[in-house]
Amino acid sequence: MPNITYITAEGTERAIDVPVGTSVMRGAVLNDVPGIVAQCGGNAQCATCHVYVDEATLDKPEPPRPDEDDMLGFTAAPRREGSRLSCRLQVTEDLDGLVVRLPERQY
Ligand code: FES
Repeated sequence: MPNITYITAEGTERAIDVPVGTSVMRGAVLNDVPGIVAQCGGNAQCATCHVYVDEATLDKPEPPRPDEDDMLGFTAAPRREGSRLSCRLQVTEDLDGLVVRLPERQY
């Protein structure tokens, strides 16, 4: 099962095995990782599941599709290189070792 590391804005780190076929957002919510709100439930309509993919693992996920790219214009914390909607990061074996940092705020 792919292992994903979540790092909160305060620097707390958790490495979680997340099943293939779910999303990086679900992996956080189901394991009580603080800092992801996911108000729309994973429909790419709220931008409150914003994460920053760590520089060292930027090449792991596929690039954002246009709908995700548009919504990334509405994040509460600044958009940076590595900004993604975690509900749009579908977990595959290729994401093993992914590191995501949570922004200071989601709204
Ligand atoms: Fe709403 Fe990801 S959960 S955009």
